[in-house]
Amino acid sequence: MDIFGLGIESSCDETGVAIIKNGEEVISNPLFSQIESHRMYGGVVPEHASRMHLEKFPSLIQAALDEFKKKNGKSRLSYIAVTTRPGLIGSLLMGYNAALALSSIHQVPVIPIHHLEAHFYASSIDKKMPAYPFIGLLLSGGNSSLFLVRGLGDMQIIGDTYDDAAGEALDKAASLLGLEYPGGPSIQQEAEKFIKRNDARVIPQINKQNPFPKILKGQSPEQFDFSFSGLKTSLLYYTQKNPDLDIQRTAYYYQERVIEIILRNLENAVKNLGISRVIAAGGVTANKFLRAGLGELAHRHSLDLRIPPIYLCTDNGAMVGALGYHYFKEGSWPSIKKVSSSKSFTWE
Ligand code: KG4
Repeated sequence: MDIFGLGIESSCDETGVAIIKNGEEVISNPLFSQIESHRMYGGVVPEHASRMHLEKFPSLIQAALDEFKKKNGKSRLSYIAVTTRPGLIGSLLMGYNAALALSSIHQVPVIPIHHLEAHFYASSIDKKMPAYPFIGLLLSGGNSSLFLVRGLGDMQIIGDTYDDAAGEALDKAASLLGLEYPGGPSIQQEAEKFIKRNDARVIPQINKQNPFPKILKGQSPEQFDFSFSGLKTSLLYYTQKNPDLDIQRTAYYYQERVIEIILRNLENAVKNLGISRVIAAGGVTANKFLRAGLGELAHRHSLDLRIPPIYLCTDNGAMVGALGYHYFKEGSWPSIKKVSSSKSFTWE
């Protein structure tokens, strides 16, 4: 029998509700991005984000349920999955509250979901998950991490950032360059213009013209950590020294350094762990240059690499519903005590 579940995402500035069939088919996926409302502040304003989730949930839930009814008649929901960590507390509470109400109406369980784990399950939409263990590369506005994923809820962090996350490094760089928030897509756009102008290759080619320092140059190949704050500082000095800088060229080379360390760390992790199954996920994996670089790396090392389609790279309810299905099928999931900003996988 088909299993339908509803996924709710509200950890940051995207309000997402989705209905998922058997963990792999999107029945409906209404999503509201708050980006426009936060743009004037250059970043997410937490209280404003919570209020907007509250405003948007009723219409998004209704839209998801209407589409479900239209497509699947009298079918019933079996579970409600909701992101409960990590994220902005006020925003998480809005989603959790909505989940509790829906669970009481539909008389189904609430499955609490770890946002970082959910990102990897975005790649299970329309495609089966790879076998465990796999290497999980997570690159978002708040995280740059490598995980050894051994099973459901069993994720060991093997590389993390010492300071900023990759998305944050792009967002802050864009702000320094006077480009729009969120910075990742803006930097990518400028880099694309540079490429067109120069007929450069899309797959990043690190060369001597790059004015920015190589990140963690001396890191041993057995370590897979990230750091972006030094790069950001070098961009600050560069902008001060070069008031008439070429924005497109600067964006291209800055982005190249960000991608370089991501690819280097992933390559080292693959070699060290001897695991060829990889899922790369999170908002930054929407980046065209990074996707090309990952594809090239996968080809070189014969990897089974999954990257979610671009529309599922940034936060959404579908990935939450998809992961919820796997817990539901297993018949056990973490007990909920409270929503939390903690990244920890120990559910206290
Ligand atoms: O996963 P996500 O939607 O939210 C978090 O959980 O953080 O990721 C948001 C991040 C932002 O930093 C944004 O600049 C970045 O993903 N991003 C991109 C692209 N699209 C979004 N970075 C690079 N290239 C993109 N095309």
